[in-house]
Amino acid sequence: MKRTNGIGPAVDAPSYEASEDIPTNTSDNPTMGDIIARRYGRRDVLRGALAVTAMTAVSGTALLSGQKQASATTNGFDFAEIDFNIGDNIVVAEGYKGQVFLPWGTPLTPDAPAFDPMNQTAAAQVQQVGYNHDFIGYVGLPYGSDNPDHGILMVNHEYTNEELMFPGDLGRQDRAEPPFKDMTAELVDIEMAAHGGTVAEIRKSNGAWELVVDSPYNRRVTALDTQMTLSGPVAGHDRVKTSADAAGTTVIGTINNCAGGVTPWGTYLMAEENFHGYFMGELAEGHPEATNHQRYGVPGGWYAWGQYHKRFDVSQEPNEPNRFGWVVEVDVFDRDSKPVKRTALGRFKHEGAESIVNSDGRVVVYMGDDQRFDYVYKFVSEGKFNPDDREANRDLLDSGTLYVARFDEGGSVAWIPLVFGEGPLTAENGFASQADVLIETRRAADLLGATPMDRPEDVEPNPVTNKVYIALTNNTRREAEQVNVANPRGPNPHGHIIEMTPPNGDHAAATSEWDILVQCGRMDVAEDGATFNAKTTINGQFGDPDNVAIDPKGRLWVSTDGNSPGGDLGRNDGVWAMETEGEARGTSTHFFSVPVGAEMCGPRFAPDGRTLFLAIQHPAEGSSYSEPSTRFPDFDANMPVRPAVVIVTKEDGGEIGS
Ligand code: FEO
Ligand code: CA
Ligand code: CA
Ligand code: CA
Repeated sequence: MKRTNGIGPAVDAPSYEASEDIPTNTSDNPTMGDIIARRYGRRDVLRGALAVTAMTAVSGTALLSGQKQASATTNGFDFAEIDFNIGDNIVVAEGYKGQVFLPWGTPLTPDAPAFDPMNQTAAAQVQQVGYNHDFIGYVGLPYGSDNPDHGILMVNHEYTNEELMFPGDLGRQDRAEPPFKDMTAELVDIEMAAHGGTVAEIRKSNGAWELVVDSPYNRRVTALDTQMTLSGPVAGHDRVKTSADAAGTTVIGTINNCAGGVTPWGTYLMAEENFHGYFMGELAEGHPEATNHQRYGVPGGWYAWGQYHKRFDVSQEPNEPNRFGWVVEVDVFDRDSKPVKRTALGRFKHEGAESIVNSDGRVVVYMGDDQRFDYVYKFVSEGKFNPDDREANRDLLDSGTLYVARFDEGGSVAWIPLVFGEGPLTAENGFASQADVLIETRRAADLLGATPMDRPEDVEPNPVTNKVYIALTNNTRREAEQVNVANPRGPNPHGHIIEMTPPNGDHAAATSEWDILVQCGRMDVAEDGATFNAKTTINGQFGDPDNVAIDPKGRLWVSTDGNSPGGDLGRNDGVWAMETEGEARGTSTHFFSVPVGAEMCGPRFAPDGRTLFLAIQHPAEGSSYSEPSTRFPDFDANMPVRPAVVIVTKEDGGEIGS
């Protein structure tokens, strides 16, 4: 749930956006606030002048190291900026069109029932597109091709809004305190079936995209009925055994799949983000998992699932939460394949999992843990990617090293390995194996002195430039004395974007350089401390960066979550094109806007840059089934508002942003 006031404190309402929960990082890792306060003087920090001062210092260092050469070059976006939108429909730049695609309830197979909102069932929902579209991935068909006109689309379904999905205006307030009186067993099962992901074969025909309904690839992955294998160092550990799974190797379902990634071998990575919200109940007094669960905010008590499925009640199944919070790998080329939870990539509120093949062939996966004061991670595979043998890459994500980031003064990042037996990760601190380190990734990272960030969302490597972009969405709870060099505003209601530059393009290196690309907010509001390039218009200024995409030319596009009318920056969320080079660096231009109440997710370009896939998540959030603030995309009084994909193409068929 978004804040209702861009400047003021967060609103502590029962929330679907778990990352808005109370921070659970109680470690006192030096946030560099002390160092900065010493260096620049406490009065400056408290006055808020720090942001500018710290920025100057960091940029200066970067210039000295030759990281950035001033030049007149730009990324060369060429479209007319759109206007401020607070309306109930999408807006796309002139000369472009948006096609609504795969809205909630779309039948995915020839046998799937048509969407009937008044009589929805779980049996129907498992065969139809799920709710709250988030991550979007695309691979060309056949495998190994860069086919931009025919491929497999992957769409995450992060969570459900029962007050918008089901007739009867089920109250959100009802979820504040279990038991959830309105939520029947069938409604819970529909919700579980609407979570997860959709895999769909799609093709372009006469300039429009269509679903191939009789495809051998189409499938749903859900929280209700999809069996998954737990693999990597945690598989079979005592702490993931439950009464339904004595071996600790098989989990039913995946939840809160926010962003994700597509691997170089064409599999779909689904990140499990706010898993804590699905659990209820209380642990027995003195239970050994108490500290672990507390660090992740378990149980969150947002959903009624534990009333009907005892595995979501921690008083009955205290180990079940340890089976969520992972990255799930799905082979989209084999509909019958069992998804795999890759535990080597750590357990936290995974926002996404975007990867790149390093120059030495190893695969590096960048990941954010989206909660206030949590961390940025990367995983470096032990083995190398084999482009000639897809099967050889199958278990690459089971062996390797997980690192957490410490952002230091002077513009360097130290990547600290999370390895059992190294440093503080020993029995003395309660770790008996690498499995323990991975189950309690956050506590391990606390002990290693990682830098607490302002809610790391997407972390995206740019394959053209080898730079890496981190979207820090916001952190209204950071106090002025808690700022650090990489998170220089306290509070930070508008977020910022960090650019990392690996040394010689080596993503596996133990260090990197970093710089702040832009601090978001409004440039005409002094207290925002926004640092967009002065060329940026008022429409180009945004807050709350969430997902980012890199187009085939290596240009950066940013989508947002939190720019609502009456709230942060007073307009709907959307997509902005962001200059990263030369004198234009930091200039932002508004390209696309979502309907009211929605956040913008998914940005993903087809390999030729002529199609941009976008996800409209939670349109009409904050209203109700009977009186939704928009009936996007059907605009029919008999249809509920529906999350959907929107496919953007240029009317003349050219490259997006050309
Ligand atoms: Fe699900 Fe971090 O957004
Ligand atoms: Ca997100
Ligand atoms: Ca992305
Ligand atoms: Ca978000």
